Formats: sequence, C-alpha cells, structure tokens
Amino acid sequence: MRIALFGTGGMASALGGQWTRHDLTVSGRSPSSAAALAAELGAEVLSWADAAARADAILLAVPTTALEALLTPLDLTGKVLIDCTNTPGATGEPVAARIAEYAPGASVVKAFNLAHVDVWRMTPPLFEGRPLGVPLCGAPEAVEVATELVRDVGCTPLPAGGLDRAALLEAAAGLAIGLWFDGLDARSMLMSA
Ligand SMILES: NC(=O)c1ccc[n+]([C@@H]2O[C@H](COP(=O)([O-])OP(=O)(O)OC[C@H]3O[C@@H](n4cnc5c(N)ncnc54)[C@H](OP(=O)(O)O)[C@@H]3O)[C@@H](O)[C@H]2O)c1
Repeated sequence: MRIALFGTGGMASALGGQWTRHDLTVSGRSPSSAAALAAELGAEVLSWADAAARADAILLAVPTTALEALLTPLDLTGKVLIDCTNTPGATGEPVAARIAEYAPGASVVKAFNLAHVDVWRMTPPLFEGRPLGVPLCGAPEAVEVATELVRDVGCTPLPAGGLDRAALLEAAAGLAIGLWFDGLDARSMLMSA
C-alpha cells in the first residue's frame, strides 16, 4: 500500500514505524523534521500535494487546527484518510465529519486516536497477554484499509460503525485523556465479566 504520513511528530513516527513493509512517504511543514523522519523510516519526502497524488491512504497526524488549511487545497478524490486526531475538551462538529467536508470524494476513517503515542511504538501492543483492540469508525472502504493497518501493528481491529459514529471515538478519547490527566486508570472502566 502507498501510505502518506502527513505530519512528522510522534504519531507519524510511531505508526509509520509499524508500517515499513508499505511504501511510505513523509510530508511536513518543517523540511528538516520531514527529512529526519523519512531517514528513520526509509521513506521519501514529498510535498503535501505530491504525496496525496501518489498515496492510497494518508495518515493525518497533525493538530486538528491544521486540517482545513492543509486539506482543502488538495485533490483527495478516491483517497483513504486515516484520522487519528484528538482535540481534548473540544465541542462542536466532530473532527472526522469536518475532514470529510474538507476532502470531498475521499473516504475517512477515525482510528488510532484512543491510545497514547507510546502504545503505538510497542511491538506489538500487548496488555496482560491480549492485543490492543482498535475501534474503527468510517466509510466501509476506509475501514477495510484501516483494518489491514491495525493488523500490521499487531492489534485487533474493532469495526464500530460508520463515520457518523466517529464522534463517539472523539468523545471517548476526551473522557479517557481527562481521567489519565487526573491520575486515574481509564482502562479499568472497560473491563467486562
Ligand atoms: N501524542 C499522542 O499520544 C496522540 C495519541 C492519539 C492521537 N494523537 C493525535 O495525533 C495528532 C498528532 O499528534 P502527535 O503526537 O504526533 O503531535 P506532534 O508530535 O506535536 O506532531 C504534530 C505534527 O503536526 C505538524 N503541524 C503542526 N501544526 C501544523 C500546521 N499548521 N500545518 C502543518 N503541520 C503542522 C507538526 O509540525 P512541526 O514539527 O513543524 O510543529 C508535527 O509534524 C494530533 O491530532 C493528536 O491529537 C496524539
């Protein structure tokens, strides 16, 4: 798969590092950061537009505030956009829905937003012997692509509905991050008998 990493920070580095069997490109606003990450991953640095044109799937690993200016000039028709973003405390229109508006013709999936970047660096992310489950909400063709990429990380894909349900993942992240910041064990609330 041809995967474009948009962003050169923690999430692009962690997830890109799990996907090196794929054809990766790196795009960022800082040429030196993009070059460093590309060297780390054995990837090529491309402009946003060139990377978008070449990619099957694009990981959006930038702040949510950057998305509109980044995506609206690009032709993303037929591309899968993987939205791992979080905006703790935000209210209003869900980010994944806004991405779909900024990129008409693309297929969007919300994924990888519920775990900390350090978890995405684990090979694989196993907890008490069980692989991490990764909920996916999005368009069916985008969920299919994300399913493969979740398996590449050694995790279990959890298809959780369409893009209309992505807001639930955004809210869940907001709740969990709030608990973690308060020093509480967010994971403990999801145990089942
Ligand atoms: N960190 C986590 O544990 C975690 C977990 C789940 C989801 N997420 C989400 O994943 C996304 C990326 O997080 P991260 O931890 O990778 O952040 P990060 O390490 O701060 O990296 C952010 C990247 O976005 C770039 N960027 C910032 N503003 C930009 C703009 N206006 N236009 C273009 N690029 C811009 C930064 O470029 P510069 O280097 O030039 O600033 C950097 O390459 C965020 O939405 C975050 O909420 C993070």
